[in-house]
Amino acid sequence: ATIFIPRDAAAIAVGADKVAKAIEREAALRGIELAIVRNGSRGLLWLEPLIEVRTGRGRIAYGPVTVADVPGLFEADFLAGGAHPLCHGLTKEIPYLARQTRLTFSRCGVTDPLSLADYRHYEGLKGLEKAVAMDPADIVRTVTDSGLRGRGGAGFPTGVKWKTVADAPGAQKYIVCNADEGDSGTFSDRMIMEGDPFVLIEGMIIAGIATGATKGYVYTRSEYPHAIKTMRAAIEVARGAGILGPSVLGSAYAFDIEVRMGAGAYVCGEETSLLNSLEGKRGIVRAKPPLPALQGLFGRPTVVNNVISLASVPVILDRGAGFYRDYGVGRSHGTIPIQLAGNIKHGGLYETAFGLTLGEIIYDIGGGTASGRPVKAVQVGGPLGAYFPPSLFDTVFDYEAFAAKEGLIGHAGIVVFDDTADMLKQARFAMEFCAIESCGKCTPCRIGSTRGVETVDRIARGIEPEKNRALLTDLCNTMKFGSLCALGGFTPYPVMSALHHFPEDFAPAPMVEAAE
Ligand code: NAI
Ligand code: SF4
Repeated sequence: ATIFIPRDAAAIAVGADKVAKAIEREAALRGIELAIVRNGSRGLLWLEPLIEVRTGRGRIAYGPVTVADVPGLFEADFLAGGAHPLCHGLTKEIPYLARQTRLTFSRCGVTDPLSLADYRHYEGLKGLEKAVAMDPADIVRTVTDSGLRGRGGAGFPTGVKWKTVADAPGAQKYIVCNADEGDSGTFSDRMIMEGDPFVLIEGMIIAGIATGATKGYVYTRSEYPHAIKTMRAAIEVARGAGILGPSVLGSAYAFDIEVRMGAGAYVCGEETSLLNSLEGKRGIVRAKPPLPALQGLFGRPTVVNNVISLASVPVILDRGAGFYRDYGVGRSHGTIPIQLAGNIKHGGLYETAFGLTLGEIIYDIGGGTASGRPVKAVQVGGPLGAYFPPSLFDTVFDYEAFAAKEGLIGHAGIVVFDDTADMLKQARFAMEFCAIESCGKCTPCRIGSTRGVETVDRIARGIEPEKNRALLTDLCNTMKFGSLCALGGFTPYPVMSALHHFPEDFAPAPMVEAAE
C-alpha cells in the first residue's frame, strides 16, 4: 500500500512526523508492507495531518490524524480505504478542494516534492520545454498577454517587468525570487517551496531565458527551515538531471539557482532592502529610481518576482496566455491562492480565479469564525492591509475593487477576527509593528510610527480623544504620502480603516479621576 503523509511545516507542526512514525511502527507490528510518500500539503490546514491512501478508486483522505488514532485506522482497514470517523472519502471530492481552480498549486500535495518523475508525470517541465524552443521576446509577450500581475502584493504586470530587464543593456542579469514571505496569515510561498519546489525552479529558469539572466537567487527567511531544505534538495536534483546548469535541458541556455537565507526582518521583503541583504549589507530600503529592473542586484538589471508570480509562469507557457487570461475579472487575470487564517473555521489555501466576493470567501469557503461568534473584521493583505467590516463583504476579490475601498489584496492573506476583537488595539498594533520593523531610513515611518503608538494610547486613555483622533489622521496622511516604501506608506491602511469602520472602539469612556 502507498500512503501520503505531508512533510509541510504546517502538518509537521501538528504532529505529521510522529504520525508517520506511528504508522510505520504499526505496519511493522502487523507485518504490512507500506510505502510512505512525504508529500506537500493540500492546503486544508484544519484537517492536518491529512493522510491519504492510494486505492483503486483514487486517493482517500483521513484527518486530522493523531498518533492515538493510528491503531484504530489499521483496525478499520484504512489502507483499503475503509470507513472511519476521520475518513473524508476521495480527496479530490472534498468540496474545499473540488471547488478550487488549481493552476499554480496543481501538484502541491499531490506529488513527492523531490521526485522529478512525479513532477513530469503531472505535467511538469512542459512550460520550460516550450520556452527553450521559443524566441525570448515571445516568452515575454506570452507572460504579458496572460495578464499575470505580481503576486507579492503590488500587482505590477510581470511581463512588463521582464521586458524592462530584457531590454536593459548588461552582460550579467539576475532573477531574484522574493520568498521572504512576511505577511501575517500567509503561507503560499512556503507551501510551494515545500510542496512543489520544481515549479518555482522551472518558473525562474523561464524568467532567465526570457530576460537573458543566467543566475537566480531564492531569498527566504530563517523562519522557513523546511522550505530552505526542500528548495536546496530540489535544486540539487534539478542540477543532476540537467535542468539547471550550463545547458538547460540540453539547450544553449545556462541557468543556476542559489538559496539565500535572511534573518526575517519584515522590511527585507521590500525588494530594494532584500537586494541589499542579498549583497551582504544591512536590509535598508534604497530609493527608487533606479528600478531594480535596471540597477538591481550588484547594480545589474534584475527581475525581482514573488514565488507565486514565478510559479505561475510554467502553466502559462504550457497552456498559453489566453488560457490563463480567461480566468478572473476586470484587470485581475488568472488565479490567486487565497490564504485563510486567524479566527476561521476552515483555514487554509484556496486557489481560485479572481472575482469571488469577500463574503463568499469568509463564509462559504472559510465557514465563518472558528469561535462560532460573529465576524467583526477581516484584515486583507497582511499587517499593512485594511480591515474590512462585514458591510463591505460584497467587495470583489480583484486588485482594483480593493483599492477602490481603500484596501489592498497584497499577498492574498486574510486574517479573520470575531466580535471580541478591539480595533483600537489592532490599530495600535499596526503602528507598533511599523515602529519595530522600520528600517529607519525615512522620518515619517521611523518617528511617525512611534508617535502613532503614543497617540493611540492617549485615545485609549480618553485623553482629548477628538483632538487625538484628528492628530492620528493627520499623522497617517504624513506617513502615507511621505514614506519611502510600503512599510511606512501602508501602515495607515489598517489604522485608518479601524478608525473609520469601528469608531465605537476609539471612543472609550473618559477616564474617571479617583476622588480625593
Ligand atoms: P511598487 O508598486 O513600488 O512596485 C511593484 C513592482 O514593480 C516592483 O518590483 C517595481 O520595481 C516594479 N516596477 C514598477 N515600475 C516599473 C517599471 N516601469 N518597469 C519595471 N518594473 C517596474 O510596490 P512595492 O513597494 O514593490 O510593493 C508593495 C507591495 O508589497 C504592497 O502592495 C504589499 O501588498 C506588498 N507586500 C507584500 C508582502 C509579502 O509578504 N508578500 C509584505 C509586505 C508588503
Ligand atoms: Fe524604511 Fe520605513 Fe522609510 Fe520604508 S518607510 S524606507 S521601512 S523608514
